[in-house]
Amino acid sequence: MPGAIYAEGLVKSFGDVRALDGVDLDVPEGTVLGLLGPNGAGKTTTVRVLTTLLQPDSGRAEVAGIDVLKHPNEVRRSIGLSGQFAAVDEYLTGRENLQMVGQLYQMSGREAKARAGELLERFGLSEAADRTAKTYSGGMRRRLDLAAALVVSPPVMFMDEPTTGLDPRNRQALWGIIQELVAGGTTLLLTTQYLEEADHLAHDICVIDHGRVIARGTSDELKARTGGERVEVVVHDRTLIPSGVEVLARHGKGEVAVAEHTRKLTVPVVGGAKLLADVIRDLDERGIEIDDIGLRRPTLDDVFISLTGHAAEAGEDENGEGAEQTRDEKEKDK
Ligand SMILES: Nc1ncnc2c1ncn2[C@@H]1O[C@H](COP(=O)(O)OP(=O)(O)O)[C@@H](O)[C@H]1O
Ligand SMILES: [Mg+2]
Repeated sequence: MPGAIYAEGLVKSFGDVRALDGVDLDVPEGTVLGLLGPNGAGKTTTVRVLTTLLQPDSGRAEVAGIDVLKHPNEVRRSIGLSGQFAAVDEYLTGRENLQMVGQLYQMSGREAKARAGELLERFGLSEAADRTAKTYSGGMRRRLDLAAALVVSPPVMFMDEPTTGLDPRNRQALWGIIQELVAGGTTLLLTTQYLEEADHLAHDICVIDHGRVIARGTSDELKARTGGERVEVVVHDRTLIPSGVEVLARHGKGEVAVAEHTRKLTVPVVGGAKLLADVIRDLDERGIEIDDIGLRRPTLDDVFISLTGHAAEAGEDENGEGAEQTRDEKEKDK
């Protein structure tokens, strides 16, 4: 039986760009699928097709057992989407906005009020709750929008990069709410640039690139496929990096990655602690002094790099947009 979110052979082109090139998905009810991929991979296009906002050129999809192309209105009634459906009304206060959503979904006045209060608190909007949304900063609006999508718990939810640009505290709050929703039976498709987030929240992960699913599995399965453990060495003297690389290449099962500025060398290995001892002895014999050495399991970042050939964009964003919004907020919060 197909899951709560099901897609088969989705294709969508924009002019010459084949944004989706045959995407298949199957998300069991009550689970979280993390959709990962570099910029331009087709994540948002997938979400737009599944939420009836965009017609694919071919392929089919079902959400909550309803055909997305044949019955878009019914699909819309069973889903929540952060960022697009949840239209924030500028002239209402944050609290009024959330209460209104609750009442639209047939909550009692009391229930809607309680849920609004709880969400405002959790997203750090309590103090601003009774100001009109038009006075909110970009970051506050984003949080209000997320809160609006979370007032009710629809059977199926889509979140397209929900935590991009949120500060760590609000990211944590959102993770908590997502976990509660899923414990309550909601099925969630989440796209994210933060691999740690997918690791933490997602039962299954699909990696997409150039409009195709290039890998799928649990986080552990993907990590195991990326080739077991890694030896990581920090050499003391920068000029000895090339000799260090030679040693690691001899013991490793793949290319040695070099991070010049941290003097850290990493290589996939098979053989565990015994091998680690061999590496240390070899480095020692060659007179290569080290500051640190260790054996670690691959992270989801390693998986991502080995599959797509580049790192996820998260790091850049952390210091860019996120910091920007925090500053912005400080001004407006006064
Ligand atoms: N409305 C559009 N018009 C033209 N090209 C688009 C449009 N939407 C997306 N694309 C292109 O389709 C590809 C996939 O985009 P998108 O799904 O937004 O990727 P992601 O969300 O993974 O970053 C990109 O090359 C993007 O430029
Ligand atoms: Mg996108």
